[in-house]
Amino acid sequence: MALLEINDLHTFFETKKGTVKAVNGVSYSVDEGKTLGIVGESGSGKSVSAMSILKLLDGNGRIDSGSIIFNGRDLADVKGNDMCKIRGNDISVIFQEPMTSLNPIFTIERQLSEPFMVHQKMSKKEARKQAVEMLRSVKIPNPESVAKQYPHQLSGGMRQRVMIAMALACQPKLLIADEPTTALDVTIQAQILKLMNELKKERGTSILFITHDLGVINEMADDVAVMYCGQVVEKAPVRTIFGKNSYSHPYTEGLMFSIPRLDTPAGVRLEAIPGAVPHPLDLPKGCKFAPRCKYATDKCREEEPELVSIEENHVIRCFYPEKGVRSDGKK
Ligand SMILES: Nc1ncnc2c1ncn2[C@@H]1O[C@H](COP(=O)(O)OP(=O)(O)OP(=O)(O)O)[C@@H](O)[C@H]1O
Ligand code: SF4
Ligand SMILES: [Mg+2]
Repeated sequence: MALLEINDLHTFFETKKGTVKAVNGVSYSVDEGKTLGIVGESGSGKSVSAMSILKLLDGNGRIDSGSIIFNGRDLADVKGNDMCKIRGNDISVIFQEPMTSLNPIFTIERQLSEPFMVHQKMSKKEARKQAVEMLRSVKIPNPESVAKQYPHQLSGGMRQRVMIAMALACQPKLLIADEPTTALDVTIQAQILKLMNELKKERGTSILFITHDLGVINEMADDVAVMYCGQVVEKAPVRTIFGKNSYSHPYTEGLMFSIPRLDTPAGVRLEAIPGAVPHPLDLPKGCKFAPRCKYATDKCREEEPELVSIEENHVIRCFYPEKGVRSDGKK
């Protein structure tokens, strides 16, 4: 069952140069106890779609239309104080850089005990005890002494664990993780991902996992939504995206070709997707991926494809979703 269901979400920013349609008709859902991975290059609207859920948009941003159904309630209509109750209590978020979320002038113990005092009305003593338990649950060695430290005294990996502990403090139903390991080295990244997977299993937390790294998606996600220029271009279970499949979006295919895989034959070069993501105020006519797509035809340059169902649980926004049928000779 879906815990979160985003339907036809449009989130816009007003700028001096015009309206940036950062999220332009996005639909995706996160099932209970499952992880939805959102992948796409920089600027594709991954973070803005997630921040729309929490109403944490910059001052010039607004949800123009669409619905965000969480636990049966449309968050697009929830205002002010009610949203504060949902943030932290029901939905938590972990960002890429923990230093932006941790307060440098307070100890870890003080920051970690706050949600227990505010949301669960615990006494200071109880909350501090609980804070140490949370540090233990995210596998921080010597949690009692780490609790007394300030954020700058911890390594990047430790800070990210503290962030996870903080995000999980009130046992949220949904955890939004926006590039949570991008700033960490690979070994620490692997430990944090393993930890998140364990916590998901133990607590049944649903996770919206945002990354530009398909390798990480493969390890973390049950389902995948691929985003490009403010839209979902493909959505499927992770095994469909990574398995041998007759259908795919050319953008997903391009992302796949650009990552090293164990089954890549020796000597085969990895291919980068040519060109760059278009500026949001200067989007091409027709399919937004057409200027970079080796399969683009005149039709693609004129008309915009819809997101269509190709097979069960698999939708693609492309006129030529079948791999064997499209060819780069089709101009
Ligand atoms: N406050 C704002 N004003 C104008 N445009 C904005 C604002 N915030 C975001 N955008 C634009 O919205 C688009 C989507 O941004 P978003 O941050 O969601 O991308 P992303 O997919 O998360 O990229 P990244 O991988 O770099 O984090 C971008 O083109 C960005 O420039
Ligand atoms: S619609 Fe055309 S340009 Fe767009 S992704 Fe499909 S083949 Fe490429
Ligand atoms: Mg982002």
